[in-house]
Amino acid sequence: MAGSRTAAVVFLLLAASASLCTAVSVDYDGRALVIDGKRRVLVSGSIHYPRSTPDMWPDLIKKSKDGGLDIIETYVFWDMHEPVRGQYDFTERKDLVKFVKLVAEAGLYLHLRIGPYVCAEWNYGGFPLWLHFLPGIQLRTDNDVYKAEMQRFTAKIVGMMKQNNLYASQGGPIVLSQIENEYGNIDWQYGSSAKPYIDWAAQMATSMNTGVPWVMCQQNNAPDPMINTCNGFYCDQFTPNSPSKPKFWTELWSGWFSAWGNPVPYRPVEDVAFAAARFYQNNGTLLNYYMYHGGTNFARTSGGPFITTSYDYDSPIDEYGLLRQPKWGHLKDLHKAIKLCEEAMVSTVGNTTSLGQNLEVTVYKAESGECAAFLANFDWQLDATVTFNGNSYDLPAWSVSILPDCKNVVYNTAKVNAITALTKFVPQSGSNSSVVSLSSWSWFKEPVGISLNNEAFVLPGLVEQINTTADKSDFLWYSLSIDLNANDPLLKEGSQILLHLDSVGHGLYAFVNGDLAGSGKGSSSNNKFSMDVPMNLEPGNNTIDLLCLTVGLSNYGAFFDTYTAGIGGPVQFKGLANGSTIDLSPQQWTYQVGLKGEQLGLSNGVSGQWDSQPALPKNTPLTWYKTTFSAPAGNSPVAIDFTGMGKGHAWVNGHGIGRYWPANVAPSNGNCADTCNYRGSYSNNKCLKGCGKPTQQQYHVPRSWLKPTGNTLVVLEEIGGDPTMISFATRELGLLCGKVSENYPAPLDLWDSNYLTRVTKPTLLLECPSPSQVIKRLQFVSFGNPHGGCGGYTHGRCRSNRARRVIHRACTGKTKCSIDVTVENLGDPNCGNVTKSLAVEAFCG
Ligand code: GAL
Repeated sequence: MAGSRTAAVVFLLLAASASLCTAVSVDYDGRALVIDGKRRVLVSGSIHYPRSTPDMWPDLIKKSKDGGLDIIETYVFWDMHEPVRGQYDFTERKDLVKFVKLVAEAGLYLHLRIGPYVCAEWNYGGFPLWLHFLPGIQLRTDNDVYKAEMQRFTAKIVGMMKQNNLYASQGGPIVLSQIENEYGNIDWQYGSSAKPYIDWAAQMATSMNTGVPWVMCQQNNAPDPMINTCNGFYCDQFTPNSPSKPKFWTELWSGWFSAWGNPVPYRPVEDVAFAAARFYQNNGTLLNYYMYHGGTNFARTSGGPFITTSYDYDSPIDEYGLLRQPKWGHLKDLHKAIKLCEEAMVSTVGNTTSLGQNLEVTVYKAESGECAAFLANFDWQLDATVTFNGNSYDLPAWSVSILPDCKNVVYNTAKVNAITALTKFVPQSGSNSSVVSLSSWSWFKEPVGISLNNEAFVLPGLVEQINTTADKSDFLWYSLSIDLNANDPLLKEGSQILLHLDSVGHGLYAFVNGDLAGSGKGSSSNNKFSMDVPMNLEPGNNTIDLLCLTVGLSNYGAFFDTYTAGIGGPVQFKGLANGSTIDLSPQQWTYQVGLKGEQLGLSNGVSGQWDSQPALPKNTPLTWYKTTFSAPAGNSPVAIDFTGMGKGHAWVNGHGIGRYWPANVAPSNGNCADTCNYRGSYSNNKCLKGCGKPTQQQYHVPRSWLKPTGNTLVVLEEIGGDPTMISFATRELGLLCGKVSENYPAPLDLWDSNYLTRVTKPTLLLECPSPSQVIKRLQFVSFGNPHGGCGGYTHGRCRSNRARRVIHRACTGKTKCSIDVTVENLGDPNCGNVTKSLAVEAFCG
């Protein structure tokens, strides 16, 4: 008895000491985050766990680690975890604990941004809709009902993390946590309640005793001990609100989100790297790429309104989980360069001096002798040569050079050593190929107008949509019956009569006597729209059925939670001969929340209401379609191409793929260009692509939702389309390119611990994406002054005859190869005093 008790005590002691071994203290001072007593210079990246699937998480986390991240940052999505008040869900994509544990297993830290308001282009900013209906509630202000809910959810999440020992103070990966989100951007609109609310939030968070620091982003008046942090395209000029707080950047926007009907934004990596390097140059010690992997807004999770299903964000890892090169690689090199400076940077603050107009040097010189320097040229146009410590350095416009020993440049933000890898969709079905066969289609015609007695009700006047549907569905029917006897004066008006209506958003289909007579939609810049629908009134009963739809609920702005949707009114007949109008708004309208197909649960494909005779209806509005298909062979990520379809929702094996809307096309006269000058200040409409094209054509179908055969695809088409044109594609890496100039620093991959003494040359490193592949074919080689970009290089005025042979010998048949970019190696192209570059295009296989 005594023996077993001793054994138990010993075991308990061992268990306690095991967890104590790994527990670390996390604190901060005026310079940095202090982990285990050591100041750190850190790199973080956002991956939102519900924007991918659990089987993708390990690979995304590994690619983040390989890319040089120390920390993964995620928001917590309240609406997913508590869809019904008090009923929690942490399964599948919502398995937050699993995500955090995977980050820990990879040896990375985690920043948990609880919010619980998160913005994030997420439906309703992450708030569950039921919150809005709690009596007396006002969101994000000094309101007791709201504060109680916010505290309850925050405590729930913190409790879960603690229970699983996930805080660094318990041996877990969480080193930081956020409460609220960018309230400082809009707090003045909440008047005198704003400050008490933010003080309460700070105090509430602190009282949770997580053992790790809290941040508030974009909150200049964040009370101690909250660290106020910066979000933006640039944050080098930001200063925290106390000298005892470090300078952190919680959202370095690596690109931007896209909205239906707009071209797709992207951000050149030279500018992302410039922004990041300037931040570290100016005493920043922690930054987070928002997003590092953007992912997908599955089902109805996208916010907005009008945020697309893709949340790719031009991130270093693309929506499908593939590396976006050279973005990922060039930032990886930056992170390596920064780490070489870490010792000097944490020992002291930077000393910045001007080297001329728009030229700056910052030196971190530790007492121990460690020295790191950043040379910046923030001129929008002019390249420069500067002298520092007696040496001369070329600085391209809008670039930063990093010198981890205050002498050698190991990295310049404008000189991209990393390879470019083009990605493409390879068709797997449809007219181009028949690799994936779709079996025949069956269908279900959604009734026009009121069809569900249990969901229908009559009210005088027009109702607001979100308050009526509680967001249970995108759809709300507004129906009106008008009985006209044969002598009704309206019938004499002829066909000039128009039904005019004003909608506050987001979209609407107008059916007159059962037929689609018009449709309207707003846009991300203006949700509102008006419509004039031709009426053909007949003696007897006339029906007007207006199907209003939301396209993701607002997520940003003061009081965004009270923004409205649906028909604001008036609804009226106009075009009458005497010039007058007839107001229909106050009539007795019949309403129905949602569609019959939704109530029947058609989305999972099992309900028995499907028709397959006599002929597949095409281009008919409000039609549900169903088919089965086998998965594309291999492991490449899969996409559905919705060419031929209008707008709607799609499900694969019951999983919501999201809204599709290829009929929403970006204007062709938009500000798109194949290349975008990275020099100069970036904004989200500076670099755009896809003008004249659907904002989104392909939609991610995660591999883990597919079986080899017998997969069910269900589509709800709203406008009308041809489902036989739907096809599948896989996302593949295509052409590999590299372009390195003779004035580039040697690749950071070649620097080792004695980098200070090592003599290195500019080098082109080519590497196939998979170790099982080799370089099969060289499509283009030029050493001289080649022009153009990957896939479109052309020879310039001068080029060496030897280069192709040298590269062929070094690379063909190899998985990777390394080529010195020198005249000795590649031959003299006789370019005179032009800086020479080597450009290569290669195919792996
Ligand atoms: C910020 C916000 C993020 C995200 C971002 C834009 O204002 O904090 O959640 O919405 O903008 O992508």
